[in-house]
Amino acid sequence: MTGLIHVAYIISALLFILSLAGLSKQETAKLGCTSGIIGMAIALAATLISVNTPWGWAIIVVAVIIGAGIGLYLAKKVEMTQMPELVAMLHSFVGLAAVLVGFNSFLSLGGSGSAEAASIVTSGNLPAEIQEQVAALQSKLASSSAEVSAVALTGKELFIHLVEVFLGVFIGAVTFTGSIVAYGKLNGSFKLAIFKSKALVLPGKNILNVLALVVSFALMIVFLSTTSFSVQLCVCLIPMTIIAFLFGIHLVASIGGADMPVVISMLNSYSGWAAAAAGFMLDNDLLIVTGSLVGSSGAILSYIMCKAMNRSFISVILGGFGNKAEAASAEEEQGEIRELKCSDVADMLKNANSVVITPGYGMAVAQAQYPVAELTKKLRDKGVNVRFGIHPVAGRLPGHMNVLLAEAKVPYDIVLEMDEINDDFSDTDVVLVIGANDTVNPAALENPNSPIAGMPVLEVWNAKNVIVFKRSMNVGYSGVQNPLFFKENSYMCFGDAKKSVEEIVSNL
Ligand code: TAP
Repeated sequence: MTGLIHVAYIISALLFILSLAGLSKQETAKLGCTSGIIGMAIALAATLISVNTPWGWAIIVVAVIIGAGIGLYLAKKVEMTQMPELVAMLHSFVGLAAVLVGFNSFLSLGGSGSAEAASIVTSGNLPAEIQEQVAALQSKLASSSAEVSAVALTGKELFIHLVEVFLGVFIGAVTFTGSIVAYGKLNGSFKLAIFKSKALVLPGKNILNVLALVVSFALMIVFLSTTSFSVQLCVCLIPMTIIAFLFGIHLVASIGGADMPVVISMLNSYSGWAAAAAGFMLDNDLLIVTGSLVGSSGAILSYIMCKAMNRSFISVILGGFGNKAEAASAEEEQGEIRELKCSDVADMLKNANSVVITPGYGMAVAQAQYPVAELTKKLRDKGVNVRFGIHPVAGRLPGHMNVLLAEAKVPYDIVLEMDEINDDFSDTDVVLVIGANDTVNPAALENPNSPIAGMPVLEVWNAKNVIVFKRSMNVGYSGVQNPLFFKENSYMCFGDAKKSVEEIVSNL
């Protein structure tokens, strides 16, 4: 039976790898999802087979039914624009699970191993053979005691296990609270300062972060050295968990709205490592492989995001370490704006030869992708060269705009990445900025003090005419005003993006 379970785990792991490979391209994404679902079904079946007590079986079945029920309900109810929030919440569950597994794993040692862990640290002067014999003897004595649990690890194994517990709980706790703060920041409806899209800047924030790491490391040394179970639990593990909870909150709260894409992929990575740590503690190979896949792919995604946004990877994972930029005031007066009606926009489009559409989060909110696809078709039928320019962090999740445009059946070949389109704006007659703001903000290039300074943006202002579709003069996600709106070749078309584009289509 054990062999069968191992084979099932290997097949699941391979299917997860295939799933990741499939998800990397639009054409193979469906296949990727299917591989992931089959892999997870096999993993669940193998886990059920491996449980040999009826109680254990019943608990897992009930947990699966409850979990699947909640999952189905959320998947049906959640809007596309709420996906990042949902993902952040799911990451927090993985973190919390790692904390609980860690505590359970430690408590089930029942203190039997403390003395031994210490002996490994303190009795370095004894020959290795004798150390092993002493450890084995201690373990035998311990397991004969009524207080001692069934888990009887010895020697180096126990030492490694305690390291796994400590690190697993630490990573899990940081992921748990960090993800909750990310959820709050993405949701945007909470009043607390930690949930605001603007970065929280506490005095000495970098020192606080370093202090949390140093104290946690010191507690780990004590945890591994002491012989007392109560010291391990009450002086080391519980205080470290509280520090890690606070560290997670501070780490994510100190990151500004515009850098949230990196934070989400970073938390994705942390949740993977937390799952891998839980896998080590539970001695579950599949959890180790899956956690490592999620951890490493999340880390690679964070790195790619940092490169795309011209951010320092280290700075972001250390909670905005070294960031000095101040947020520009949202109310800052930047000049005059010019307004256009939908009928005027239609007239402008009738005379254009080339049009570029740069969608953003507002297109997702308004669900304007369908009229935008219709507008594209109408203009192309009239011989206008229409293309799309997609910023890597437009919207609220990686590939958000690509998914919406694919959903509305916009042909792939006219949907271009930012780097592919940026040089073409100077030859473009009209740019339609549909619900985008931060991703077309020239302050990123022109104002070194802006929170988005250095982030590459779609340089739409180089076109002959730019028309911005939004409902008001409100700022974008990073909370910064956009000088684009006040440029001489820019026009504002106020209103819900879907309604505005529908009106333009009917005027064409
Ligand atoms: P944003 O800067 O968020 O701006 C969206 C604009 O859409 C707003 O200014 C809003 O203005 C407008 N809008 C909202 N609802 C609308 C509607 N119904 N009709 C018309 N306009 C509407 O958008 P962006 O340019 O896509 O930039 C994305 C931002 O989110 C970046 O700062 C990015 O870092 C951050 N972020 C991205 C991700 C990922 S992975 N993509 C994840 C988290 C955060 P009004 O209110 O005036 O209408």
